[in-house]
Amino acid sequence: MKREFLTTQDGSVTIHLPDWNEQYHSIHGAINEAKHVFLKHGLEFFITSEENIAHSIAILEIGFGTGLNAFLTSLFAEENGRSINYTGVEAYPVETSEIQQLNYSELLNTPVATFTQLHDGPWEVTNVISEKFTLTKRKQFFSEIKDKEAFHIIYFDAFGARVQPELWTEAIFRAMYEALLPKGVLVTYSAKGSVRRAMQAVGFTVERLPGPPGKREMLRAIKVA
Ligand SMILES: C[S@@+](CC[C@H](N)C(=O)[O-])C[C@H]1O[C@@H](n2cnc3c(N)ncnc32)[C@H](O)[C@@H]1O
Repeated sequence: MKREFLTTQDGSVTIHLPDWNEQYHSIHGAINEAKHVFLKHGLEFFITSEENIAHSIAILEIGFGTGLNAFLTSLFAEENGRSINYTGVEAYPVETSEIQQLNYSELLNTPVATFTQLHDGPWEVTNVISEKFTLTKRKQFFSEIKDKEAFHIIYFDAFGARVQPELWTEAIFRAMYEALLPKGVLVTYSAKGSVRRAMQAVGFTVERLPGPPGKREMLRAIKVA
């Protein structure tokens, strides 16, 4: 599918799919959205709600895409001295030439290599990115995910239900529920009622939270059991 580039309202670049009129991130700000939905309401929430976490945090990302969520999480790990093992699932990896168009390291005042190293390493193996951050990229369809009680947090960042409704079903959320450890947390930018009901149907406790810029609400689902 054809991929183009678009500058979002916070100055960060994202990928636009003209065939679907869909973006990899919010047009109101790719970096702002990622920080709000995944870092603040996912990772930071998990850390503050768990007492005494001395262990590494395991994160699964649904849709590795440009690597922006992984990049922000790797910077968080370094800045906060937290060990994070990050797994990104992606069926259609972006090309090296496309990575070069993304301006995340410039906007976040980090050397370009801190971002590109996330893309340079091989797939299907654990890449040690820094003392605090490992990255495993899995080239896989979401429907093939079979992990059991393996992750503390899931960043659910599939394209919207308007274009890929098959990725927002009970079957997918059941697999997500099974992949999470008890007390695990799933966050997503979506706030659709049908998505919330699908999450609840498989056992999640779901909260609506204020959304990122340009969006009223988002969802956080917890595996309470
Ligand atoms: C919203 S984008 C993810 C954005 C990404 N989190 C980022 O920070 O750039 C959704 C991603 O899901 C991938 N994708 C779409 N359908 C998929 C499927 N069935 N299985 C696996 N990956 C899929 C797309 O290629 C795209 O990279």
